[in-house]
Amino acid sequence: MLNIEELYELAKRRRSVRGYDFNEGKSIPEEYIQKILEIAHWAPSAGNGQPWQFIVIKDQAMREKIVELFLKQLEPKREMEAALRGERNINSPGFKNAPVFILVIGDPRVNEAYPVRTREEKGFQHFITGLANATMLIHLAVASLGMGSQYVSDASSPYMATMLKAYLGIPDHFKVYELIPIGYLKSPVPPPPRLALEELVHYESFDPAKSRSNEQMKEFIFSITRRGAYGKRDRNKKEE
Ligand SMILES: Cc1cc2nc3c(=O)[nH]c(=O)nc-3n(C[C@H](O)[C@H](O)[C@H](O)COP(=O)(O)O)c2cc1C
Repeated sequence: MLNIEELYELAKRRRSVRGYDFNEGKSIPEEYIQKILEIAHWAPSAGNGQPWQFIVIKDQAMREKIVELFLKQLEPKREMEAALRGERNINSPGFKNAPVFILVIGDPRVNEAYPVRTREEKGFQHFITGLANATMLIHLAVASLGMGSQYVSDASSPYMATMLKAYLGIPDHFKVYELIPIGYLKSPVPPPPRLALEELVHYESFDPAKSRSNEQMKEFIFSITRRGAYGKRDRNKKEE
């Protein structure tokens, strides 16, 4: 059994990796993939609906096609960003050298596992939470094996999800949830900063002193969150 210090280390060390070292000597053993998916399928899900299914993609030609899809769907995303915010550096296919992609898809029919009121009130939320839990376990399992993984959430954008369904023969009623490239790291990835725990934790009741003003939120969004996410840097910092 993992002890709490080991769990802490694993949670802390897991990183979103956007650059992979692909060479044959470092291809991922099949037992690793099996183990990662075994772990993922023990995730909790509402009503034990187990909404997840996993598509393992190793074929290089298919991975290249998926990278092409990703780049294509990025064009309007970049354009939209530039139009409203004047920013262009939004994302890049840093995952293109990852030797294995796992696509997490979900079957929304599992929502019938919930009581009717639950289905009506929060069917979608429950469905997504189940998929997120399985996805999180994949990321942790990968990290425990000394490898890296990434969330490619644009896989669920309408164009990319539709094309993935067509390329991979996924029945239309499925939700394409997340693409997870997996591989060995090209170089170590420094951890993006986290807020201090004491800013986040309230005891017994909400502590108003920990409320963040709009100004503080803005500062947070434009500095802390930009270090790591989307490969962007803190706009207030010249170099890290
Ligand atoms: C729901 C969700 C969607 C994400 N989508 C993307 C994505 O599309 N591309 C990406 O590079 N990272 C994505 N990330 C990764 C986050 O940017 C990353 O978790 C965050 O910057 C913290 O870095 P860390 O994962 O290394 O701790 C996503 C993470 C989550 C939880």
